Amino acid sequence: MTGNELRERFLKFFASKGHTIVHSSSLVPANDPTLLFTNAGMVQFKDVFLGLDRRPFTRATTAQKCVRAGGKHNDLDTVGRTARHHTFFEMLGNFSFGDYFKREAITYAWEFLTRVLELPPERLWVTVYQDDDEAYQLWQEIAGIPAERIVRMGEKDNFWAMGDTGPCGPCSEIIYDRGPEHACSSTPCALGACDCDRWLEIWNLVFMQYERDSNGNLSPLPRPSIDTGMGLERVASVLQGVDSNFDTDLLAPLIKAVEKITGRTYDPGEAGFPFRVIADHARSCTFLIADGVLPGNEGRSYVLRRILRRAARFGKALGIDEPFLYRLVDTVVAIMGGAYPEVVEQQEYIARVIEQEEVRFHETLNDGLKVLNSILDRARQEGREVVSGLEAFTLYDTYGFPLDLTEEIAGEGGFKVDRNGFEKAMAAQRERARAAREDAKAYDFALAFAGALEDISGTAFTGYDQLEDKGTVLALFQEGARVTSLEANATGYVVLDRTPCYPEGGGQVGDRGELKWPGGQARVEDTRRLPDGKIVHQINVTAGTLVAGQEVGITVDRERRQATARNHTVTHLLHRALKNILGEHVNQAGSLVTPERLRFDFTHFAPLTGEELRAVEAEVNQKILANLPVTTLETSYQEAKAMGATALFGEKYGERVRVVKIDAYSMELCGGTHLGSTSEAGSFRLVSESGIGAGVRRVEGVTGAAALEMALQDRQELATIAGLLKVPPAQATQRVRHLLEQNKENERELAQLRNELASYTIDRLLDRVQEVAGVPVLPARVQITDPEALREMAERLRSRLGSGVVVLGSQHDGRVNFVAMVSKDLVQRGIHAGNLLREVARIASGGGGGRADMAQAGGKDPGKLDQALAYSLKVVAAQVR
Ligand code: ALA
Repeated sequence: MTGNELRERFLKFFASKGHTIVHSSSLVPANDPTLLFTNAGMVQFKDVFLGLDRRPFTRATTAQKCVRAGGKHNDLDTVGRTARHHTFFEMLGNFSFGDYFKREAITYAWEFLTRVLELPPERLWVTVYQDDDEAYQLWQEIAGIPAERIVRMGEKDNFWAMGDTGPCGPCSEIIYDRGPEHACSSTPCALGACDCDRWLEIWNLVFMQYERDSNGNLSPLPRPSIDTGMGLERVASVLQGVDSNFDTDLLAPLIKAVEKITGRTYDPGEAGFPFRVIADHARSCTFLIADGVLPGNEGRSYVLRRILRRAARFGKALGIDEPFLYRLVDTVVAIMGGAYPEVVEQQEYIARVIEQEEVRFHETLNDGLKVLNSILDRARQEGREVVSGLEAFTLYDTYGFPLDLTEEIAGEGGFKVDRNGFEKAMAAQRERARAAREDAKAYDFALAFAGALEDISGTAFTGYDQLEDKGTVLALFQEGARVTSLEANATGYVVLDRTPCYPEGGGQVGDRGELKWPGGQARVEDTRRLPDGKIVHQINVTAGTLVAGQEVGITVDRERRQATARNHTVTHLLHRALKNILGEHVNQAGSLVTPERLRFDFTHFAPLTGEELRAVEAEVNQKILANLPVTTLETSYQEAKAMGATALFGEKYGERVRVVKIDAYSMELCGGTHLGSTSEAGSFRLVSESGIGAGVRRVEGVTGAAALEMALQDRQELATIAGLLKVPPAQATQRVRHLLEQNKENERELAQLRNELASYTIDRLLDRVQEVAGVPVLPARVQITDPEALREMAERLRSRLGSGVVVLGSQHDGRVNFVAMVSKDLVQRGIHAGNLLREVARIASGGGGGRADMAQAGGKDPGKLDQALAYSLKVVAAQVR
């Protein structure tokens, strides 16, 4: 059975048991700042388990793409060392949301393994959580597994949690015994006692019962649920009778491709390690990039960079000294494209991102090696045996040098690396990144309300067609607690049963507006949506008292909404125009739509040229002038994709989606509010373009009144400039050009005059040379404030003297600058500019120093300048031999 067939059989089996087949979600968890990557099938259902969200079904089944790269569930270094660990893998799962529990979960699993896959029952073992007598009994009763093949295990192995917080529960694992020929050298090699490839965990059944909060406390979930996860690659290896996941049809073609690129032969043992790492990493890189992650220095982006560079390094180990990983994308797509069309759609783009990062890696590798060598030199000089954590971190942060690489190279030179210090520096950086994350705030916001809103029904959003409505107060909040009323002047939150106020989402800011009821009034300052769809208004009561149950009239701030709609519709035009002009690889990476302006982040490799910017702006304006109708429709996600609608990376879409169409020009999945036709936007102006990360550009723009206002400002600015130039605006450019030329001419003249003046000064100064013990010494006060020019003057004086000592001092801004120069022959006679100047500067309350032939110093007491200069004669007399 191929991997692809296995995936299908699984989904079909559970569909026949009343489960809805749900698509794999993105590797970037939607709206979940607590988690770096989707690491299990249950992640897309996290809020459903927690009771924050509901689905139209209570049973689901998925084949989920997962990434585990460091952290709780996986150690990067084990990947490729064993037959069964990956950074990227597929998890087959069945889920019950308060529907069935342990008995059915065990029944289904057993039936699938022994009837559908026909695995020999005597090869199957199970583990259960130490106190879970119920599961222990059920396995014997349902599956007839003898007690000696049921192993009780502790929290570490048989209590599953998504992360440090979130849903969790005791679990039961099904293990396939590959047979004694696969035993390891541990005694005993037994389930629970060793961790070798003989005992293959193939399926984990989690009895979801608790939620863990950030203090580690467990509280029961609203409804006990089921979450299971079966490793597709592992089961495939069993069914295909091969020793390792890497020998299955899901990975072997990648190993083959690496053989072809390197011209070396794969060894399934130890020596094949780099092949396996590369095969694994090619999959995670491909899929991460397909889901919108780009290599970078923080969070997800950093993990991707690390995986990618790790693969590149192993390529080096196999003798490839140029980008190659990108060439494996085709193979990944050939194996997986059927089940995951997103990698087919973006095949070329993915390969390009990988190639670029590989090129960058080779560059930084060389730069980093130089820096590391100088760090080691310095450590040697200082008699250290350890590279400090900060040094290692700088290498990593600035040169993309992974810690293990630093350790490897440092180790070759007999140095250790302070891992602790490195981790500390890293943790500090992570903390900064985390704190900066906006969505973390939004999530806290939701959590603050979630628990307290179980009892109330949802909010109907009516604001697509109307800006006024009537609604009833379902709940009120003040300072994080549910209240029954909000008095005048109070600020709080209100949930209504219906509202025309648009809640922040899809990059579009939340509406503002007004609530009115007999004897009272409140300003709506912001509107947001909770994960389950309830809409929360942040309000300030301006008169009267608002109580629960009150019916209120709601009015949306019309002008603000309209200004926002202009920017939103134009954002869609902009997205399309960018794709048309730069290429289909352009994808939205972020967007912000406010009444004042729009901001759009997208994937692209190079700064936009002036020409491209003009073309984009022109195309958007052309579509505005064409007065294209904007329409919306509701359909299923699959249907929308089939129609060719653009969907966004990492965005969580429900079963039903809303499609915004701008005539035949643009079609996007979008829940935002838009114009009726494009001409209402007035006009569009690009305001800025910049890079915000590897392969991500940002443009900002304005529409409507703001675009007009900006044009007027420009005109005013030009008028002012023309006024200053005393010419009509149309002649301003010509006039400025002329002035610039004149200015250049003036500068040339000035330089010449300065030069002449300097020669004159030099002649005059040379008259003042004094002899000290046969040494010509020239101490002089000059009026040169620029240190560079001061040095130059000293240099010229010294060369005119031939043999001699020059000490110049100048005064500037209440401070003193000194420079001293000593000719070579006099250095040999013991005169040292640095020591000389140190003593001289001390008199003017300063310090400094330098080399024997040249030194600079400063002082804080200009009143002592002459005295200090005069003192230089004495110092020279004392120094000379
Ligand atoms: N969520 C469970 C796991 O990942 C099934 O093992």
